[in-house]
Amino acid sequence: MKPVLVSGIQPTGNLHLGNYLGALKNFVELQNSGKYECYFFIADLHSMTEEYNPKEKQKQIVNVALDYLAAGLDPKKSVIFQQSAIPAHTELMWALNTITPMGELRRMTQFKDKSEDIAENTNVGLFNYPVLMAADILLYDAKVVPVGHDQLQHLELTRTLARKFNTKFGKTFFEPAPKMTEVTRLMSLDDPTKKMSKSRPAGCVFIDDAPEVIRKKIMSAVTDSEREVGFDKENRPAMANLLTLYSAMSGKSIDALVAAYRGKGYADFKRDLAETVITSLTPFQKRKRVLAKDAKGIKAIMEKGNKKALKVSEKKMEVVKKKLGLA
Ligand code: TRP
Repeated sequence: MKPVLVSGIQPTGNLHLGNYLGALKNFVELQNSGKYECYFFIADLHSMTEEYNPKEKQKQIVNVALDYLAAGLDPKKSVIFQQSAIPAHTELMWALNTITPMGELRRMTQFKDKSEDIAENTNVGLFNYPVLMAADILLYDAKVVPVGHDQLQHLELTRTLARKFNTKFGKTFFEPAPKMTEVTRLMSLDDPTKKMSKSRPAGCVFIDDAPEVIRKKIMSAVTDSEREVGFDKENRPAMANLLTLYSAMSGKSIDALVAAYRGKGYADFKRDLAETVITSLTPFQKRKRVLAKDAKGIKAIMEKGNKKALKVSEKKMEVVKKKLGLA
């Protein structure tokens, strides 16, 4: 049997290039490697920890499903499902809550950052968000979890909880390993010291942006006062970021790009970069537009994925309940 791989994306609005390169594109490559039994879900329960408009949520959920499919996730190869449709996620979370020390959760950097950002909405869900994430992973006996840097600490907690549960109640869970393929970390185009984020829209290229919007954002990206394109992460972070983006979208190495732009100005470089981004997003955007017209088809795909996830997760919960003495 192939090792199980689990990951998810929260439905909170449009994905940007950072999410695309850091998660989505990576998911498709992992799926197509044929090495894993893949589960990709829409982390709608996690997304509830941030203030949201319930009238928008359905659209956001469908949007992630469309992103998954348009990017190349294939329901024949991967189980694609919606977290909230699978009761076992919250059920297992409860069991894990009872073995999670408060101190472990208080240390989580994402919780500390978010509870500062949104002090007025520091809810308990935000606090035990990592426990729900552990449940997402352990429920499917995942061995491999592709995540960005910001989620590594949560994965470490998942391992700790698996170990603790196994020690207390007998061997039940695998300890999953993070899958840190060379994930591209994109910075904001208007400030290379900040991560690309939808909260900085001017420096953020969304994967649904129209060509003219992409062109405008890239042409107005900050650079530096040097004359030539060059890669120096420390001293020239803005150019390093643009080169990283160019390389990731074109498949060309940074060295090759630097060589190609020797003697040329930044305007040429940016113009080509914009066209490269537009060209590589076009097939995705086209597929997404076509898929979006088939609401029924999307629903059917999700239902099929939910059914499979439900079956696997219920079986696991039976084992868990026995171990816990509940059944
Ligand atoms: N917390 C993850 C993020 O924001 C999303 C997520 C939820 C996830 N559950 C997961 C990722 C389980 C991997 C595995 O990026």
